[in-house]
Order: sequence, then structure tokens, then C-alpha cells
Amino acid sequence: MDFPSTPLPEKGLSRGEVLDQLRALKADDRQWEEGKVFGLIYDAGPEHHELLRDAMALFEAENGLNVLAFPSIGQMSHDLVRITASLLGSDDPRSGGAVTGFLTSGGTESLLQASKVARDHARERGIANPTIVCATSAHAAFTKAGELFDIEIIRVPVGEDFRADVDAMAAAIDDRTAMVVASAISYPQGVIDDVTALGALAQERGILCHVDSCMGGFFLPFLTELGHCDVPFDFRVPGVTSMSADLHKYGYASKGASVVLYSTAELARHQVFMTEDWLGGFYASTTMAGTKPAGPIAAAWASLMALGHEGLLRLTAETYAAARQIIDAVNANPLLEIRGEPAMAVFAFGARDSAALDIFAVSEVLAKSGWHLDRQRHPDSLHLTVHAGSVKATPAFLADLEEAVRTVGDRRTEDRSTTYATGV
Ligand SMILES: Cc1ncc(COP(=O)(O)O)c(C=O)c1O
Repeated sequence: MDFPSTPLPEKGLSRGEVLDQLRALKADDRQWEEGKVFGLIYDAGPEHHELLRDAMALFEAENGLNVLAFPSIGQMSHDLVRITASLLGSDDPRSGGAVTGFLTSGGTESLLQASKVARDHARERGIANPTIVCATSAHAAFTKAGELFDIEIIRVPVGEDFRADVDAMAAAIDDRTAMVVASAISYPQGVIDDVTALGALAQERGILCHVDSCMGGFFLPFLTELGHCDVPFDFRVPGVTSMSADLHKYGYASKGASVVLYSTAELARHQVFMTEDWLGGFYASTTMAGTKPAGPIAAAWASLMALGHEGLLRLTAETYAAARQIIDAVNANPLLEIRGEPAMAVFAFGARDSAALDIFAVSEVLAKSGWHLDRQRHPDSLHLTVHAGSVKATPAFLADLEEAVRTVGDRRTEDRSTTYATGV
């Protein structure tokens, strides 16, 4: 995209002018409030957003780099880490009782940190050029970690059910492997890998096992409680050594908050950077950033406190019901099919027969009515992240989807681009 340049004004604008310009800038953005954006946004309603905005504003100027100056940020971070750990099995003796971790800026950073920890842990054991073995469904952030930290990322094709192929993963592990990855859930098809088998594999080979629960971490525990999920996926599974869970997804926090957890303090210490090797004195930090915004931390804390266990359980139940409604409607359409067996509210669907229907042409029709769905390939599919804000829009979406499939007929589109991440 080409953006026109806005010069630095010679004289500063008034507060009203600045805010007017910001509102004008937003005019071309996706309007998500109606629930038509199935991705990027997690919406627990207007009152909740008002609270998040107020919490962010309270901590607008503070800096998470120094919790001696701002103990409030240390306290909130501690609470967020402990609550997340508890949701993911840390209170159960099977976890080993030593789960600990850190707040990060998002899912990508949590995965980067877990990968760097695995690399350093492997190097300590004499592996100079470690690898990480993950399925092709594991998030792109692992490939980013490979580039940033000089780790060879070995991508293993998923099975027909889009889950990690445990035998193929086992075959890809060798004496350079630092870590194996399981997704609970995976982003592309929303399926849960066999964490029990992958944890056992890691234990058997003496390597680490990360469970990427960035998407599932604040959903699966509640879905389990509601009786809709019975697969073990967290620190209760033997062999699991680290996990990631994003507050800014199904924790309904503002953007900029995720948690990465380790099964032992010994592993976690690899994430702590410390130096005195410069003129500025002792410098310690646990995240990629130095200066760290406190607003997202306060908003995440506010989100969990305001929703509580009851609120998260209710939002999970409502969101899951809406997702199931869409999944059932897709499966009932003879031209469409869901890819794999999605475990929660994130899934992809496409044409049962790609010669009979071009699903990207369907997405173009849906886009004209304001729906935002990601497109992905292998195979061509549309991707939905259903969240609490999608619930109210579900009946309209189902009607528009049926109509779009009907009107597209056998028309195809030239545009085969995919759109998940296009950050500047
Ligand atoms: C399974 C999974 N892992 C990691 C991420 C990365 O999270 P973020 O976009 O917050 O960096 C995502 C994002 O959707 C995800 O679904």
C-alpha cells in the first residue's frame, strides 16, 4: 500500500484538530463494531472497551522497564502471569509445581522468547547449531525466530487432519534438536495437536516441548470446564516445558499483552537479559523491548479483573455456540467444507470441490458487504476467528454466505493473494 506523507506541521495543531484528523484517518479502516471482522479483533462489547481505554489512559506515561520506579506494573504483570499459569495447570502437581514466566508484547514475542530460550538451553548442552521441529501449521513466528536467532526451523508437513504428524515429527528430531512444537490450537485450521504424544516424544528424546496456546490459552480451559473439550494440552501433560497464551486474544485485553511460561525457573532464566557492559549501569530486562508501554498491561489486568472467571466462561460459551452454528451451516452446504476438525472458535472453510466453486471469489462478494475474512492457501480457504463480538452478526453472516456462494456460481477470480499479515 502507498501512503501519502503528512509533513510535521510548522506550528502544532490544536487538540481538536489532531483528534479530528485521527478520526478521519480511521474512516477507511475496517469497522469492526458490528461484528463483521473475523480476525484481528476480539470484542467483548462497548462497556468493556471503555474500561480498557480508561485503564490504558491511567498508565499512559509510565514505563514498564523499571518496576522499582513503578511497582504497580510489577504487581499487575505478576498477577497476569500467575493467573495465566493457573489456568494452564500450574497448580496441579503434574505440572511439577514450578511454572513461572513473563509478560510479553504479544504472541509473536512469546514464541520468539520460547525459541531463544530453547536455543540457549541447547547451547548449554553443547549443541552449537540447534534446530526446532514444528509442523507446517505452527505459527509463522517460529520461522521469524529462526531468522532472528539463527535457529534452523524444520517444518514437517501436517497429516490429512491438519494436525502435527507425530511420526514425521519424531523422524525429524536428531541430536541437534532443541525443541518440538505443539499447537493448541493451530491458527490456520484451529485444530489441537496431540500434545500428549508430542510431550512424550520430547521426554523420550530429552528435548523441550513448547505448546503454542496463544489462541487457545484463554479459551480451551473454559471450553474444558463447559464440557466441550476433553484433550489435555497444558502443563499437566508430561514433557511440556513451555507455553504461550495471549491476553490480547480471548483474554479480551487491548493489543500488546501475552504470557510465556516455563515449567522450571532454570529454563525461564534464559529469558532474562542482564548486563553492566556499558556506561549506563545495571540493565536487566525480560522482553525484546527496553522501554515498555504500561497501558496494555493495565488494560489486560483490567480485562481479567472485570470479566472474572464467570465472564470468561460466559464469553467462551457464547462464542463457541456461534462458531458451531457457522461450522454446522458450512458443513450443511454441499459446495463447502470445514478444513479438519476445529476445536474451538477458529477455523477455515473452502470449496468441497475447487473446480466447482472458487472460494476466493466468494470472499470478494462477502467483502463487498463489509465482511472481513482472511484468505489462506494449501488449500484455498477462508479463515474465521469468531469472538464474542461476532455473536450478534452470526445470523447475517450465515445469510450473506449462502447468498455469496449462490451468486458466485462458477465465476473465478484472478486474485489469489493471501492477507493474514501485511504489517508496515
Ligand atoms: C497459534 C498462534 N500463535 C501465535 C500467534 C501470534 O500472535 P500475535 O499476532 O499476537 O503476535 C497467533 C496469532 O494469531 C496464533 O494464532
